Amino acid sequence: MGKDWTGNKKSTFVTLGASNHSDGEREENDYYATEPLAGEELLKLEPSLGNIWECACGGGHLADVFAKNGKLGSATDLIYRGYGVGDCDFLEQEWSWEGDIVTNPPYKYAREFVVKALDIIPEGRKVCMFLKLTFLEGKARKKMFEKIPPKLVYVTSSRLNCAKSGDFEACAKASAAAYAWFVWEKGYKGDTILKWFN
Ligand SMILES: C[S@@+](CC[C@H](N)C(=O)[O-])C[C@H]1O[C@@H](n2cnc3c(N)ncnc32)[C@H](O)[C@@H]1O
Repeated sequence: MGKDWTGNKKSTFVTLGASNHSDGEREENDYYATEPLAGEELLKLEPSLGNIWECACGGGHLADVFAKNGKLGSATDLIYRGYGVGDCDFLEQEWSWEGDIVTNPPYKYAREFVVKALDIIPEGRKVCMFLKLTFLEGKARKKMFEKIPPKLVYVTSSRLNCAKSGDFEACAKASAAAYAWFVWEKGYKGDTILKWFN
């Protein structure tokens, strides 16, 4: 039996509901940990990222990758999950951040996270969000994309897992959802470029 990236033995993977982010009982506060490979790939795609604030860091699955690469400025979450600083509501406080903001946000507030993150960084800095491809759909999001287009959308061509409550062992081995890194550069007004990775 092989080992997954957590070092745990790959045993029987249980499919939770229809997918890890769609139906079935949702994790409180939308905690779905991201496979760290997504963070490693992002640093290859966007090597200029620096002083990163992981503003919904959960158990640190992305933040720790940024820390190990000397790119992490801060890691916070509404709930302390064993990494970074807890009790930190990204949407409620008035912040400003002299760096880039990268996270896999709570999906139900993803649009709010994008708008807030772009609001609090300087021109030219980046916001990178790991989101389901379905984030491209929807009337409210269309309005947002027209106003603030992402500069790049990097689609995962091999699927990456997001695990409910950080439990990759219990999570389906192959993610049911397709994800992408959505990258905004503050001030960018051109067309969105679509690329593939992984
Ligand atoms: C989808 S999980 C992703 C966790 C982590 N970013 C990762 O990629 O592994 C979303 C996280 O957002 C946090 N969260 C929810 N609402 C929040 C808020 N208003 N401010 C900050 N964090 C929040 C949750 O506690 C949860 O840890």
